[in-house]
Amino acid sequence: MFTAPAAAYDQFVGRYSPALARALCAAAGVTSGQRALDVGCGSGALLEVLAELCGPENVAGIDPSEPFVEATRVRVPGARVEVGSAEALPFADGEFDATLSQLVVNFLTDPDQGLREMSRVTRSGGVVAGCVWDYGGEMTLLRTFWDAAAALDPEGVEPLMETYTMRFARPDELGDLWRSAGLEDVDVAPIVVHASYDDFEDLWAPFPIGVGPAGAYAASLGGEAQAALRDEYRRNLGDPEGPFTLSARAWRAVGRVGA
Ligand SMILES: C[S@@+](CC[C@H](N)C(=O)[O-])C[C@H]1O[C@@H](n2cnc3c(N)ncnc32)[C@H](O)[C@@H]1O
Repeated sequence: MFTAPAAAYDQFVGRYSPALARALCAAAGVTSGQRALDVGCGSGALLEVLAELCGPENVAGIDPSEPFVEATRVRVPGARVEVGSAEALPFADGEFDATLSQLVVNFLTDPDQGLREMSRVTRSGGVVAGCVWDYGGEMTLLRTFWDAAAALDPEGVEPLMETYTMRFARPDELGDLWRSAGLEDVDVAPIVVHASYDDFEDLWAPFPIGVGPAGAYAASLGGEAQAALRDEYRRNLGDPEGPFTLSARAWRAVGRVGA
């Protein structure tokens, strides 16, 4: 799902990542002079913001996708960027003041272990922060896509819809994950960001490349079925002519590592 070129991801959901990263860093209180880690760094949007705030020599990123790691190394020169997974972080205990993870926990094989690892590598009193899309609600790009797909093939699509398949899509689910890792003073709140599109074609172009669950579904369809989905999706978005903007809501959690 995340072996596509980073440019395709950036044109897809990654379009929202820089704005989301700024809001997540603000919520986590990341400031100059801190050491910060980006877990599941993808194509590097959050790591780039962390490097602006803390300096590239003070930040690190990790992701299992080699094309994404390569793209992040180019995007954030001077930062340490590793191929690896959240469940086994190659960092020392308490190495970071802040560990952040943007849109990642739903993709972990073992989210509880991932959160324990993020807590382990964060110093006592430091911050662990992350976010997930509001898949069933106001993540317009994805929810409208799945609504269109379900209208055409309700039985086939329902088991694939991110509204149902994502374990962490509501504030209580995210907060429970943070608290079960032993994090303290856990605070959960929404973040709303926007992305602009030149036209519907600009939005649709990355779907057939197969990035993420929605892209993988679109790419799995044959020519006619894919064209029907594209048309239904376009109708669901109000048949936009020319440029338009979509909003996307995420839930973010911030917690503190205890003594
Ligand atoms: C939706 S993308 C988010 C990327 C980036 N954080 C952003 O905000 O644009 C999910 C990312 O999680 C990564 N991922 C999947 N399994 C992972 C794991 N076990 N540990 C760390 N990252 C993982 C994927 O490779 C992908 O880059």
